[in-house]
Amino acid sequence: MQYSKISDILILGSSKGLGKDLYNLFESDNLNSLGVARTESNTTDFLCDLSIKNEVEKLIELFHSSEIMPKNIIFNAGQGSSNKEKFEDRKEELMKQNLYTSKNFIEILKEYPTELQIVENFIFINSICALENFKCSEEYKQTKSALLNYSRILAKDFLEYGIRVNSILPGNIMHENSVWNRKFKDKKEEITFLNNTMPNKTWIFPEDIYKAIRFLIENKNIVNTEIILDGGQNLFSPD
Ligand SMILES: NC(=O)c1ccc[n+]([C@@H]2O[C@H](COP(=O)([O-])OP(=O)(O)OC[C@H]3O[C@@H](n4cnc5c(N)ncnc54)[C@H](OP(=O)(O)O)[C@@H]3O)[C@@H](O)[C@H]2O)c1
Repeated sequence: MQYSKISDILILGSSKGLGKDLYNLFESDNLNSLGVARTESNTTDFLCDLSIKNEVEKLIELFHSSEIMPKNIIFNAGQGSSNKEKFEDRKEELMKQNLYTSKNFIEILKEYPTELQIVENFIFINSICALENFKCSEEYKQTKSALLNYSRILAKDFLEYGIRVNSILPGNIMHENSVWNRKFKDKKEEITFLNNTMPNKTWIFPEDIYKAIRFLIENKNIVNTEIILDGGQNLFSPD
């Protein structure tokens, strides 16, 4: 079809953290990126709360009317913790943030068969917390496990559209506004933490995840694959 604005990459959750770094890494490799988030930034092209269905409907309708469509969609929006007091409330918030931000987008996109023909890859940024034996907060674990199960179902369903679905499960990521930046009072404490939790004694960096995404995009036979990107961290559970 004659689509006027086909972008290489769409990053859902692009205003800060990993999403922002991925956006800039793609751009520096001359891959045209578009980003979606709730707050404005240099890496936000579209404002949308992806956890709210009618906002996502408007976003995709805007893509449709402006003839904008990406070839590769990176589902990165997510949240690791909630301040709510009750377990059920924390779980609900994290489900919205980690599962429904992706699910809303995909279910609505399914109503646009012409646009679906342009998309080649769905890549989910999940977490090693989705792995059965890795210890994490229960609410985060349940939401990332739900996302992993969802991606596995999609992998089969979307074969008919020619879209490959894969996931990346990172361990502890260090980036500009990483939660890990705020956890340590000094470098010594950070090194002790790394020695205790990361077998290769270093963080996972956005560049590592970027390379894994490029690998998935460039290998046309990879479908329903989960890349565990954690330097072996999942083999040791934190106390
Ligand atoms: N950090 C880690 O150690 C780690 C480890 C493993 C996996 N992960 C996963 O990696 C992903 C990125 O993590 P991060 O550390 O970069 O988190 P982050 O710094 O909090 O960034 C999350 C991004 O998602 C966007 N976002 C969140 N909720 C959204 C919503 N409802 N609608 C639209 N955009 C939304 C945020 O932008 P706005 O606030 O502007 O909307 C932001 O751009 C998450 O899925 C996380 O679970 C992180």
